[in-house]
Amino acid sequence: EMEPQERAFQERIDAGQKIEPKEWMPEAYRKTLIRQISQHAHSEIVGQLPEGNWITRAPTLERKAILLAKVQDEAGHGLYLYCAAETLGISRDEMYGQLHSGKAKYSSIFNYPTLTWADIGAIGWLVDGAAIMNQVPLQRCSYGPYARAMVRICKEESFHQRQGFDILTVLCNGTPEQKAMAQDALNRWWWPSLMMFGPSDDASVHSAQSMAWNIKQDSNDALRQKFVDQTVPQAKFLGLTIPDPDLKWNEEKGGHDFGEPDWTEFFEVIAGNGPCNRERLEARRKAWDDGAWFRDALTAYAEKHAARETP
Ligand code: ACO
Repeated sequence: EMEPQERAFQERIDAGQKIEPKEWMPEAYRKTLIRQISQHAHSEIVGQLPEGNWITRAPTLERKAILLAKVQDEAGHGLYLYCAAETLGISRDEMYGQLHSGKAKYSSIFNYPTLTWADIGAIGWLVDGAAIMNQVPLQRCSYGPYARAMVRICKEESFHQRQGFDILTVLCNGTPEQKAMAQDALNRWWWPSLMMFGPSDDASVHSAQSMAWNIKQDSNDALRQKFVDQTVPQAKFLGLTIPDPDLKWNEEKGGHDFGEPDWTEFFEVIAGNGPCNRERLEARRKAWDDGAWFRDALTAYAEKHAARETP
């Protein structure tokens, strides 16, 4: 049985209204949003690392400038998302603490290594492509600050996706070695990209409640299907082969059938045991520790000024 206040809240959600920061909300709604938005913010911040790895090695000055801009966009996305989470009553220090202690999750995808330049193309094409598929519906989610943050983020993600596809287009029209490099990147990034959408619907613990609250609009499997259907013709255009022997068009359902991702691998990665989890967390902790002098200086400066202003 719902309390009258909770019933009125659900009616507002069902009527498509936005919930704003200072308004009443069930504690569980607040907790779910803090969980999802902070995980999303951490993903953007950690997501800078695999690509940052290639800034100094981008093949041309133009590619370097584009990659630098893209990685800076991700830092910006992380910052808006931390702001959106803060409106729910959690502090940024607390969120950083959760990330640095290994308690908070962030997207599984960023725990895989970027071995070649083609990986930067594959990340833009597949990883940002998957991110857009998941984030476009979030622009219409029930929590105002999260929905609004998504508008700009999605525009920038579209640019990221195009730049990745462009890198791969050049490689696929290049030498046989370059084409092979692109195929190798697709082979390694395909399955992890499908895992970005989360566990299958029957294993997704939060989906039903998040859909009732209009935080999620599509199930994990529905978005995964949409992503596969969108990506298959793009792979064909590039002349690349998707590494899934079970992939085939199903006329009846009007979509592709495809193989099952390795869920054991997925759960290992989100438990902290993926190929780069330790390295990623160490890099974030080091950045935090290296910034201590700057935070100390800001605090000292603020205290000095506060002391001067008190008569
Ligand atoms: N990587 C890491 N953890 C994941 C992933 C993933 N790809 N998918 C699911 N999980 C976690 C969930 O966070 C949840 O863990 P928790 O209970 O400890 O918080 C658990 O697995 C169960 O999954 P679900 O019940 O399906 O969780 P949820 O309803 O939150 O759905 C999803 C997961 C789809 C990722 C959702 O949180 C979401 O849409 N988030 C916003 C988008 C986002 O974070 N994108 C980040 C990558 S894109 C980018 O940064 C470029």
